Amino acid sequence: MMRFEGKVAAVTGGGSGIGAAICRRLAEEGATVAALDLSVDTAQEIVADLPGAAAIQVDVSNSDSVEEAVSKVESELGPLAIMVNNAGALAMSHVARITPLIKQQQAEQAVGPIQTPLEALARLTDEEWRFVMSVHLDGTFYGTRAAARRMAERRAGVIVNMASVCGIEGCTGHPHYSAAKAGVLGFTKATAKEVIVQGIRVNAIAPGFIDTTRTKAQVGVAREVNVVRTPAGRLGTPEEVAAAVAFLASDDAAFFVGATISPNGGLVTAV
Ligand code: NAI
Repeated sequence: MMRFEGKVAAVTGGGSGIGAAICRRLAEEGATVAALDLSVDTAQEIVADLPGAAAIQVDVSNSDSVEEAVSKVESELGPLAIMVNNAGALAMSHVARITPLIKQQQAEQAVGPIQTPLEALARLTDEEWRFVMSVHLDGTFYGTRAAARRMAERRAGVIVNMASVCGIEGCTGHPHYSAAKAGVLGFTKATAKEVIVQGIRVNAIAPGFIDTTRTKAQVGVAREVNVVRTPAGRLGTPEEVAAAVAFLASDDAAFFVGATISPNGGLVTAV
């Protein structure tokens, strides 16, 4: 089925993981895709096999950079019909600090109560907080605003924002990421209610544990624990998330406004 024939789609973070799968899926269904990424080289690799697609450099945490990239999408490919705000990054210093402690806690939990505090919150720096907020929350704001400004003139368009189950119920050890993703959900709901009268549909995806480069980098017990915690007994695939994005981007989801769809294998069911 070619649900996106003749439509231009921009995907931030399109150079890797879930974003790359979204680019491929939208292209498979006929869209002309722009992969927007901090790393234009990896975005280039993803679009190389996609007909008419473009790789465009962007830093989603920078307002001017996002405006420039979206203008480039329209001048190179045509009017933007689908915007997917998916780019994401972790504060690696924080990840390095808490990973051994999370593993320690998991080992303790297997035989009794947790003894070792994470102190993820206490040791989180202002810079780590700001970095994660800027990529996920500022980035979603800049991308949504840039797309909506253009789509409103044409009274047509679809925006999909990438949240996470962490934004629904909070993930231990990740207060900044959870806050940013909860912010993405609140932002999505408010903007969705506002801009639907201008013909623009905005919705969110909140995936559970997905098998991407980031989760693949987890070793041993952490990855296994995520599998065990997921009732489906496995991690999700980027392609399964991409399928949910394609649904929300399509006319099949015409009555979805400000909704959150959560492909998560049963990890979180009260969405
Ligand atoms: P990834 O690390 O594989 O890909 C993220 C992409 O975003 C990379 O290509 C990176 O270069 C790009 N990026 C990072 N900072 C950027 C910036 N400032 N400007 C533009 N591009 C930037 O990550 P993954 O796993 O594919 O995640 C994609 C989205 O899905 C993220 O928003 C993430 O928070 C969300 N998510 C991921 C889950 C998972 O288990 N992998 C679960 C739930 C949500």
